[in-house]
Amino acid sequence: MKFFADTSDVNDIRDLESTGLLDGVTTNPSLIAKSGREFIPLIEEICGIVKGPVSAEVASTDYDIMLKEGQKLAGIAKNIAVKVPLTEAGLKVCKVLSDKGTMVNVTLCFSPGQAILAAKAGATFISPFVGRLDDICHDGMELIADIVDIYGNYDFNTEVLVASVRSPSHIIDSARLGADVVTCPPDVIRKLYKHPLTDKGLAAFVEDWRQTGQSIL
Ligand code: E4P
Repeated sequence: MKFFADTSDVNDIRDLESTGLLDGVTTNPSLIAKSGREFIPLIEEICGIVKGPVSAEVASTDYDIMLKEGQKLAGIAKNIAVKVPLTEAGLKVCKVLSDKGTMVNVTLCFSPGQAILAAKAGATFISPFVGRLDDICHDGMELIADIVDIYGNYDFNTEVLVASVRSPSHIIDSARLGADVVTCPPDVIRKLYKHPLTDKGLAAFVEDWRQTGQSIL
C-alpha cells in the first residue's frame, strides 16, 4: 500500500520523505490557499522533494481552459499527476492527458458509478473521499469496498487512492480492502507509529539498560 501526504506544507513533506515511507503527495486548491504560497513554484518545490507522483489540481471547470491548465501543470515535472474533478469536462481532459502519457488523478469521487467512468477515461488514480461521506452519515469505506470489488472484475489500470482520510482507522480499513494508495494529512500518518504499550515497554527497557551500566558503542 502506498502512502501519499495530503498537504502543501513543504516542511511536513521533507520530514515524511526522510522516513523513506512516503510514496507521493496530493494537493488541492484549498491546501494551496492554506499555504499562502504561489502555486507553480510551490508545486515545483514539492516535485523536487518527492520522487513519486505529486498531484496538482486544475482550477477551471471549463473543458478548454482545464485542458490548457492540465498541460501546463504536466510540464512542471515528470512526476506530476494532473488532478481533475469528476465532471464530464474533467473526464474528457483526463482522457486526452492520459492518452498522451500524463498521470491523471480524478478527484471528488463519491459513487461507484463515477469511479467506473474515471477508469474508462484512463485515470491513473481515482480519489474517493471517505471522510466527507462519513461527515454526511454515509459509510465512506463502503464506497472503497465497492470500487475495489468493481475494478477487480476488469483489467482497469486505475489505482484506488483513498482520500479525505481523517484517522488511522481509515488507513487500516483501506489496507484491509486492498486499496492501492491512501493520502493522509501528515499527523494521521504519524499517529500510526503510536501505541501506549510501545511507549511503556520502551521506558522499561531504557531504565533496565541504564541499570546495567553498559554501553553498546
Ligand atoms: C485529496 O486528494 C483530497 O483533496 C483531500 O484528501 C480532501 O480531504 P478533506 O476532505 O479533508 O478536505
